[in-house]
Amino acid sequence: MEMPKLTIGNVTARLPIIQGGMAVRISLSSLAGSVAKAGGIGVIAGSGLEPEELAAEIRRAREIAEGGVVGVNIMVAVKRFAELVHVALEEGIDLVIAGAGFSRDVFQWCKDAGTPMVPIVGSERVAQLSQRFGASAVIVEGVEAGGHLGTDELMLDLLPRIVDAVDLPVIGAGGIVTGADIKTALDAGAAGVQMGSRFAATVESSAAQNFKDLYVGCAPEDIVLIKSPVGLPGRAIRSSLTERLAAGDVPRIERCIVCLKKCGKDFCIMDKLVKAQAGDLEQGLIFAGSAAARIRDIPTVAELMDRLVSEWTVATEGGAA
Ligand SMILES: Cc1cc2nc3c(=O)[nH]c(=O)nc-3n(C[C@H](O)[C@H](O)[C@H](O)COP(=O)(O)O)c2cc1C
Repeated sequence: MEMPKLTIGNVTARLPIIQGGMAVRISLSSLAGSVAKAGGIGVIAGSGLEPEELAAEIRRAREIAEGGVVGVNIMVAVKRFAELVHVALEEGIDLVIAGAGFSRDVFQWCKDAGTPMVPIVGSERVAQLSQRFGASAVIVEGVEAGGHLGTDELMLDLLPRIVDAVDLPVIGAGGIVTGADIKTALDAGAAGVQMGSRFAATVESSAAQNFKDLYVGCAPEDIVLIKSPVGLPGRAIRSSLTERLAAGDVPRIERCIVCLKKCGKDFCIMDKLVKAQAGDLEQGLIFAGSAAARIRDIPTVAELMDRLVSEWTVATEGGAA
């Protein structure tokens, strides 16, 4: 049996696997291009990039992808959201994913460009609103996901309700690291899955080596929630920074680069994400999903995609027998 394909608007991927966009600079051209080449949807995280950097990453990803599907993920909360979405559309990106907030305008920009628009949603209400505005699919992210969180519900609790609430492909995100996990999400009604943490710990991910090693070595109790100045909780690996944040012991922003539309100014999220990507595990914020504790190696994307397909096949054929 073959894994089902994933069609979103006018775009079809051979495998129902989206590599989640991961800012800042964790998912760039090497990761997104390799996932697309292997048959999934590769996603470049645009948040925190300069517009010309994003354009260059998109071009490079397309070269690596050899015709595979490449998208961008840009957080609505970032000040340069509109500018970055327009750069991606001008570069002819295959699809746009918008997380951390809701924008009405992006639906029209994508419609004008003929590009599928896929919001990340955490409730039936936002999923239905997205459908009315012209979404081509929705991504349902559960509380177990890495990064900023828009819900306190588990993905498998939320997903079936959203499948019932909209007439669109629904993608499940949060807690997926194996082909058996993919089967569980598809069985619950998902048209595909989005995986972040699993792809952060691959050879082609642009995270520093010690960032990836931390994923491989962490235990469930090492994964914690923080309060992000974006105004949402965020899931990350426990570090000296998360301990200091929990104790209220992090100095407020001294030099603001005005990167967010609205910022609580408790600390600079961009600065901490940039530091983590560069390997400063003391000062950086290492976003990770709760399932990072099940990750035990750092494969290439090609190895990982083959493994996911084999695991899905074993789970599916074993289940059918
Ligand atoms: C390091 C990291 C950075 C992330 N950055 C973003 C981001 O910039 N925008 C976004 O919408 N989601 C972001 N996410 C969420 C992922 O795209 C994905 O939905 C999530 O990781 C799925 O959960 P999982 O980690 O359990 O697979 C990030 C996740 C991680 C682990």
